[in-house]
Amino acid sequence: MIGTVVSGGAGAGQTRAMSGRLTGKTALVTGAAAGIGRAVADRFAAEGARVAYADRDVAGAEAAAAASGGRAVPMDVTDEDSVAGGFAALAADGWVPDVVVVNAGVQLFGQDAEVADLDLDVWRRTHEVNLTGAFLTVKHAVRGMLGVGGGSIVFTGSPTAVRGEGAEFTAYASSKAGMHGLARTVAAAYARRGIRVNTVVPPYTETGLVSTLTADPGARAAIVGRIPMGRAGTTGDLEGVMVFLASDESAFATGATFAVDGGMTTL
Ligand SMILES: NC(=O)c1ccc[n+]([C@@H]2O[C@H](COP(=O)([O-])OP(=O)(O)OC[C@H]3O[C@@H](n4cnc5c(N)ncnc54)[C@H](O)[C@@H]3O)[C@@H](O)[C@H]2O)c1
Repeated sequence: MIGTVVSGGAGAGQTRAMSGRLTGKTALVTGAAAGIGRAVADRFAAEGARVAYADRDVAGAEAAAAASGGRAVPMDVTDEDSVAGGFAALAADGWVPDVVVVNAGVQLFGQDAEVADLDLDVWRRTHEVNLTGAFLTVKHAVRGMLGVGGGSIVFTGSPTAVRGEGAEFTAYASSKAGMHGLARTVAAAYARRGIRVNTVVPPYTETGLVSTLTADPGARAAIVGRIPMGRAGTTGDLEGVMVFLASDESAFATGATFAVDGGMTTL
């Protein structure tokens, strides 16, 4: 497929050529109703993939899927029956994803805290979505991929997982660090069975997840000030690396961490 898409990234407002880099792929993105997940799912569809928009926000997933010609999959990643049921419903129609983006996540602003002040319930609710949800998504993704000759799994990681960016967000940072470890572990386990697993690290990216930070000029300035390239991330910034990792162009990449964060974790 050849076409154009309006970029939401650094070149917002510009158009760029689409080239069908994912033609023939079947992708599932969790947390695809909004934010990074939606942008990635939309770009995958524009690149020719069949795309399943998985989210617990069913109306949001349906609206997003309808706009791109994809398919909505009701899925709460904390519930194994829901995850297994979503993959089973797709498989029943011949959709076995060979690309899965493990992206659904929460950050409980106003509740997450430094460790001495952190409630166990906040810790558990954060890990339930971010880490247990990732485990359940990958478990059922891998089962499907083993039956179709392999595939590519991409995690949406975090700067908080790799350095002290999450000092005030103990539960979130720990859950994202767990995701990075899970990605490496699964990559090692399946490297000889055709399944690749990589992690993308976005910086502070202005989605609904971080609206509390975005609405606070002091907090926003502080976090943007820690991004060497001097601006917040956009969802469009992440699409290119996601397409690369989903496609066969990255065929020899596994277990790796790809920072697309304006230098936040690398400079
Ligand atoms: N925004 C940032 O600054 C930033 C930075 C680094 C990493 N990330 C990561 O990127 C990912 C996406 O974040 P975002 O900023 O797009 O957030 P967002 O809040 O805009 O979107 C998150 C999506 O996940 C869905 N979701 C939440 N819990 C779910 C569940 N139990 N089951 C299924 N879906 C669920 C939500 O309904 C929503 O559609 C997250 O893993 C987040 O940790 C975000």
